[in-house]
Amino acid sequence: MAVTTKEFSLNHLAIIMDGNGRWAQKSGLPRVAGHQQGVETVIQIVDECVSQGIHFLSLFAFSSENWGRPREEVDALMGLLLQFLSSQRQRMLDDGVRLRVIGDLTRLSEPIQKALANAEKETSQGQNLTLILALSYGGRDEIMRAAQKIAQSALDGDLDINKLDNKTFSSFLDTGDIPEPDLLIRTSGEVRISNFLLWQTAYSEFYFTDVLWPDFNAAELRKALDDYRRRKRRFGLTDDQLEDL
Ligand code: FPP
Repeated sequence: MAVTTKEFSLNHLAIIMDGNGRWAQKSGLPRVAGHQQGVETVIQIVDECVSQGIHFLSLFAFSSENWGRPREEVDALMGLLLQFLSSQRQRMLDDGVRLRVIGDLTRLSEPIQKALANAEKETSQGQNLTLILALSYGGRDEIMRAAQKIAQSALDGDLDINKLDNKTFSSFLDTGDIPEPDLLIRTSGEVRISNFLLWQTAYSEFYFTDVLWPDFNAAELRKALDDYRRRKRRFGLTDDQLEDL
């Protein structure tokens, strides 16, 4: 019997939301208009993930490299984030969505840090979907920060460095208590990982679409999920071994 992908449920979906700028430019609009429309897509996709019974959704909302963008664009993105937190507060509570944030949050302004901490606290009882926003996030940066914490823990005598294994290392990442993504989607036709969840996507399936993020929607997501369900995940094993498992 061949292993069917039905056996691989989709517990964690990660998305690199790309193409906002190009979407705006195509219509002669400022880049920020693309980000605004991108937030509408976020709202629709969160909703669809709840309907699909997906338990974790990670969104790459602002990378550590995005700090290098023009000041106005960075400010606009931070403004949209604040707006999102307040406009979606009730909806998250009603829909059982729990918010989590990963990344180097120390680089975010104090009001943003406070709003995020508050939203995480308020939504902490959400049981349906954990929405993970990657902000000021870079995969290498996260791994490096984990290595620093591990070294400190060893120096403090709390960790025996000879016992360090994959599982213990993972627990020091920002995503320590979050399962690894099953599927990673990137929109806009770019085919690269761009420093997102480098450690965690070791065995994730990838799905690339030319659709720009502001044009992505529930139907496009269902297409990606159908594609994922037709795949065969091997995790480095042979078909026979998987059958035995
Ligand atoms: C990539 O498009 C997108 C970003 C850098 C930011 C993504 C942000 C949002 C969708 C809105 C904020 C999100 C939340 C949750 C409030 P790009 O600007 O690189 O597009 P381009 O490659 O076409 O220039």
